[in-house]
Amino acid sequence: MKKIVGDRKMDHLKLVELSQLMMSERDGRFDYEPMLGHHGGEAEDLACDFLGYRLQAPIWISSMTGGSRRPSRKGEVSAGEINLRLARAVKEFGLGMSVGSCRRLLEEDGNKAWGDFDLREIIGEELPFYANLGVAQLEEAIRRQEVQKIVEMVERLRASGLVVHVNPLQEWFQPEGDRLEVRPLETLQKFLQQFPYKVIVKEVGQGMGPRSVKELLKLPLAALECSGFGGTNFSRLELLRAGSNHAHAHEHEGLVKVGHSTEEMVALIRNSYKELSARGELATHEFILSGGVRDFLDGHFLMNRLGYRCVFGFASGVLLHARKSYGDLQKFLQQQIVGLKLARQFLYPRESKD
Ligand SMILES: Cc1cc2nc3c(=O)[nH]c(=O)nc-3n(C[C@H](O)[C@H](O)[C@H](O)COP(=O)(O)O)c2cc1C
Repeated sequence: MKKIVGDRKMDHLKLVELSQLMMSERDGRFDYEPMLGHHGGEAEDLACDFLGYRLQAPIWISSMTGGSRRPSRKGEVSAGEINLRLARAVKEFGLGMSVGSCRRLLEEDGNKAWGDFDLREIIGEELPFYANLGVAQLEEAIRRQEVQKIVEMVERLRASGLVVHVNPLQEWFQPEGDRLEVRPLETLQKFLQQFPYKVIVKEVGQGMGPRSVKELLKLPLAALECSGFGGTNFSRLELLRAGSNHAHAHEHEGLVKVGHSTEEMVALIRNSYKELSARGELATHEFILSGGVRDFLDGHFLMNRLGYRCVFGFASGVLLHARKSYGDLQKFLQQQIVGLKLARQFLYPRESKD
């Protein structure tokens, strides 16, 4: 026993030099309160109510992948396999999840992609599981009077509802991208009148400004998902993908760098929430804080800043692990959960100025 302590003391002396931190490296978002917590926080219950379900931790897996026409290359994990791993983790840790765009299921050969999205059996009935489409598909369905097809898709998947991504800039940079003919707000207003299930609205990594946030909070959405700037940027991704084939997109490259971080969006939501609530016009009450969320510290910070019913969401963060193996994904999520318990014991996000 003494020897171990002795070794530790030697280690300490050896490592002192490497352990110097600059003030600029400090995470200044939190007050650290060592007097107020304890390590028994392992047992702390992270369970919360969200979207009418009981989650075991306030973590959401954001829409990604599925329905690819291209067979996966040798040694590459298929989109379907990634979705299966994500769904399995959702069940094991008691989280919520939405799949990537289910557009393919609405097309003639949709049945071929069915397995990529058919996850309810794995997730079970007790947790939220959402389908996903772009606002362009909603616009088209309304124009063709085919909203019922979307209703049937959601029912067949036994999904809790539909996540709608609103991504005009990504579409612009995508060579085969959709061109919206109607403002997304009008499309959503019409869609909500015809669609009987819950709807969540999100961007795809660029966030949204004050006007859009305010208008969305007036709609009866199940939740608003931020998908803010600062993580995966789909406009840039499409630009990279297009290479020189889509020369005119490069002329508008500056558009890749506009947007709103999830932290900024939290402040925007707070402002509109208070104002609309006072006027009796608030219709959306739940939020997914996603986009550039790297870990439990970001999640803890954002959730506390918002202060309303919310969870935090990962997209690329979980994808990188899910691609490696289920064990890797499991380890990542376990780390987030334990980290969040520690954060709740010792870290108090500093007051915002708004
Ligand atoms: C590989 C991949 C595929 C995605 N596909 C979709 C999609 O089909 N529909 C959607 O709404 N968002 C999609 N997203 C966007 C994510 O849901 C999320 O909004 C965005 O990646 C920002 O989160 P992050 O910074 O945690 O990656 C995708 C993201 C990734 C990384």
